[in-house]
Amino acid sequence: MNNKKFVEPYNEDYAKMYNHNWSQNPIHKEEANSHIQTIKSLLTLHARWLDAGCGTGFFLSHFSEISRAGFDLSETMIEIAKNANPDALFLNTHDLSKPNAEWNNNWDLVTCTGQPWAYLGSLDLIEKSVENLWSWVSSGGKLFLTPLDIQDLYGVKVNYHFTEVEAQSLNSLMNAVISTCNESNGVSHLNLIYPNLDQWVRWLGKFFGKIEIGTWDNVQSYSFPRRYLVCSNKKTKPDNVQPFLSWI
Ligand SMILES: C[S@@+](CC[C@H](N)C(=O)[O-])C[C@H]1O[C@@H](n2cnc3c(N)ncnc32)[C@H](O)[C@@H]1O
Repeated sequence: MNNKKFVEPYNEDYAKMYNHNWSQNPIHKEEANSHIQTIKSLLTLHARWLDAGCGTGFFLSHFSEISRAGFDLSETMIEIAKNANPDALFLNTHDLSKPNAEWNNNWDLVTCTGQPWAYLGSLDLIEKSVENLWSWVSSGGKLFLTPLDIQDLYGVKVNYHFTEVEAQSLNSLMNAVISTCNESNGVSHLNLIYPNLDQWVRWLGKFFGKIEIGTWDNVQSYSFPRRYLVCSNKKTKPDNVQPFLSWI
């Protein structure tokens, strides 16, 4: 682990309290349930599922009938994930921004929830992570992401520019916000990078022919509805053909 920003929060004490503070906290329960329901809708019985930045393996643990695996940068989070998922194919430490050719084209569903990318030091590293996530999805497989952007975080309305042509025609463009999350237990997650929704679409559109933008309207713990992305029609190599974009 060489990411200074990252090393601080996800230590042993924090990892032990993670489910209590987040996934199982009544405040975030609706959001966790929405994740589980959407993941369920994306899985078929014989699917192979890779959870990137799986944390404590909380979501994986709800699907014991599925062939599933995960990775995370934090060794202590992975230890907890292993206890919660003794039958997983593997639970390894790995950095999302680094490729792993062994996983290429191997997974019917790749998920990345809870914004692990936000801890990476630059937009370039996040873009590299998008390429890795794409490379791991099988032909015919899907990628599920839960980005937070300025609109979700602060309720600030922004004009989205979903195509590269549109984005390149502008003199200036807001790609992301940098935000610090201070938890009530005193833990701070400093200078997290949250790319805007349209930046995600511009990146992902190079790799997938279809992008669905979903909304969990029932999640009350945020002032704005929570969005998620489902990417399908994996391209064999990246191109500039616009993806089919739909709002679900
Ligand atoms: C907020 S937690 C989300 C965990 C889980 N996906 C969930 O939705 O509950 C963020 C996770 O990202 C992991 N993480 C941070 N940087 C990472 C990286 N570069 N590669 C993989 N995982 C990373 C952290 O260790 C932590 O477990």
